Amino acid sequence: MDTPPRPAGSVVIIGAGTQGRRLAFMWSSRGGSVCLVDLQEQQLHDGLSYVHQLRSAEASLDRNWGEVALAHPTSLDSKLQDAWLVVECVPENLALKQKVITQLDDLAPKDTIIASNSSSYGISEIIAGLNLKQKSRILSAHCYWPPETSAIEIMGHKDTDPAAVSLLLEQCKSHGFSPFHVKKDSIGIWAAIKRETLLALSEGVCTPQEIDAIFKDVLKTPKGPCEQMDVVGLDVVLDIENHYADSRAGVPDEPREYLQKMIHSGHLGIKNGEGFYKYAG
Ligand SMILES: NC(=O)c1ccc[n+]([C@@H]2O[C@H](COP(=O)([O-])OP(=O)(O)OC[C@H]3O[C@@H](n4cnc5c(N)ncnc54)[C@H](O)[C@@H]3O)[C@@H](O)[C@H]2O)c1
Repeated sequence: MDTPPRPAGSVVIIGAGTQGRRLAFMWSSRGGSVCLVDLQEQQLHDGLSYVHQLRSAEASLDRNWGEVALAHPTSLDSKLQDAWLVVECVPENLALKQKVITQLDDLAPKDTIIASNSSSYGISEIIAGLNLKQKSRILSAHCYWPPETSAIEIMGHKDTDPAAVSLLLEQCKSHGFSPFHVKKDSIGIWAAIKRETLLALSEGVCTPQEIDAIFKDVLKTPKGPCEQMDVVGLDVVLDIENHYADSRAGVPDEPREYLQKMIHSGHLGIKNGEGFYKYAG
């Protein structure tokens, strides 16, 4: 099948952290230009270095790398004028996400697709109560970590234009993602896997090593749920769990209590060298 043409214009990414810099790499990997925006100069600098690091790992692929420009939010207005897509990758804080989405809706041309990469706030929840000019172009585009995980979930709200969803699914595919269309508001299956894992651990059913081993053996995944939670960071997992518990009735307390105990005893995952597992360096 032919590769669909890349839309004219650039992709603007708001937030040059863990996810933003990875998205800058992906969206510039087929000749398209990207503008990476962050409040912090250091994050922009580190983000660009990370893009080059990922590019050098793919040197053998003879890719047509696009330009990655860096910008401070003060020049957002002009950077958005030729964007076909803008993705917010700011920290997981609802008020901040709502502020950024409102600003993007205000400044971006009416056909620019606006996407949120939030892990735990669905797009319906983010835009609820906001006064927006063009909400039919707003949707969720949630990707995973680490970067070799190519899955990305595209989820609209009830008024999202199906053409925006189709265009993004198509473009994600031609930029190396494995896109999935989430057809209704959902907080996801990964949430259930984490929660059931934590519940089993809190009940003393098995050890993290045993859960990961059986998961990998049966489902043939490279990592088990405990290894994956260590990658994300147990404090981040707890924030996400707390949000799920606030938004859905019947979520058990034990998984969050178990995480809280781990965090209190200094287990944050790979980021501080100890989570479910110990990490050298
Ligand atoms: N880290 C993961 O594994 C992961 C996986 C999937 C999805 N996500 C989602 O991606 C989003 C970002 O997460 P992250 O881990 O990249 O966060 P991060 O903390 O690494 O990066 C956030 C960046 O946003 C910048 N920022 C904050 N306010 C800003 C503003 N107003 N304008 C421009 N930049 C601003 C910060 O300076 C920082 O560089 C979150 O919604 C998270 O749920 C993260």
